[in-house]
Amino acid sequence: MNKIKLIKSTFLNEEETKKKLCEFIMSSEILSMSSECEKFEEKFSEKQERKYSVFVSSGSCANLLLIQAMLNTGKLKKGDKIFASSLTWATNIMPIIQLGLVPILLDVEEDTLNVSSKTLMDGYTKNPDTKAFFLTNALGLCSDVDEIKKICAINNILLFEDNCESLGSEYKGTRMGNFGIASTFSFFVGHHLSTIEGGMICTDDSELYENLKLIRAHGWTRNNSEDFRRRKRADSLIDDFYGIYAFYDLAYNFRPTEINGFIGNQQIAFWDEIIRKREDNFDKFHKATLNNDDIIKLKTGDMNVVSNFGFPLLFKNKELFEKYKELFEKENIEIRPIIAGNISKQPFYKKYKKNKNVCPNAEKIHRNGFYFGNNPEMNYIEIARIVNILKNT
Ligand SMILES: Cc1ncc(COP(=O)(O)O)c(C=O)c1O
Repeated sequence: MNKIKLIKSTFLNEEETKKKLCEFIMSSEILSMSSECEKFEEKFSEKQERKYSVFVSSGSCANLLLIQAMLNTGKLKKGDKIFASSLTWATNIMPIIQLGLVPILLDVEEDTLNVSSKTLMDGYTKNPDTKAFFLTNALGLCSDVDEIKKICAINNILLFEDNCESLGSEYKGTRMGNFGIASTFSFFVGHHLSTIEGGMICTDDSELYENLKLIRAHGWTRNNSEDFRRRKRADSLIDDFYGIYAFYDLAYNFRPTEINGFIGNQQIAFWDEIIRKREDNFDKFHKATLNNDDIIKLKTGDMNVVSNFGFPLLFKNKELFEKYKELFEKENIEIRPIIAGNISKQPFYKKYKKNKNVCPNAEKIHRNGFYFGNNPEMNYIEIARIVNILKNT
């Protein structure tokens, strides 16, 4: 019985993509960030339906860069509180701490794994001075994100989304990643669309876009618009000669390479196929759980597309968790904790944050949940093997 792994391949159509990549490398003069990266950004903006995209070297870099941009542009300042999901990846929370902000963890709903308007309001009542919300859209799912957006707008809370796990999912006809002022994406192997390593930040705000590009590359303005460059030079009284080596603000080097850009351009052609296949698989797995009383049912009511790279299972108690864990292992199906579990239990969080954010649902998911892989190259035999377990017949 072959192993059903979390990640099946590096890319969709791997062999063909690798061959094209070899040819591209052999025929290219420039392999540092250039036209392939630019082309990928343009195509990504078009597919995601956002005005601007900034390609970076990972989803984690995208998160750090976005928060740095919030500080550089004065939208946030050190010491500000930021809401974040208790069920997320480490490098969603780490930049908040690294850059001197204070994460306030919000609980998630057990039937969506995501923060809802209710859990946001619970957090807001206790911390009404919170300035922003870095919402994670976990595993292709969401709660009532339209209500979350309204609450943020009414209370002047800046909303941005970590959409590293939810490319292509849609809520009430809007793509995930299009609810906040900016959103981040990951193209790590096994995510929806792979560039091996890579990430993106999308926004419709032109000033934020210019700042993101400046922070991506050393703090200089070489990749910026002529107008932005001129303004920066004029503000700092720098002439053209020194301007090329002027560093205007705190920044990083998070540039991707042309290799990542080229792969992105190859893979983005499969966007629709990747999303649809993951969605089809999700539907099959979801249906199979609906008559199984051991599993807490996932609520997807207002989502018109759910596309994810892992299917989460939350069991009603620890005994059932152990029972199914053993079953999956016996059937040679790889499983793992749901994202990073309750993030406040992670060693890094305990080291740097002493504040107690009590999140009972995240705790339940940590203790009683796991996920298995959902990828576009699963065959019907593999799907049937999983469905059989889920049906519990
Ligand atoms: C929610 C979330 N944010 C950020 C990241 C980081 O992305 P990357 O692995 O590209 O750095 C991940 C990675 O899986 C993630 O799940």
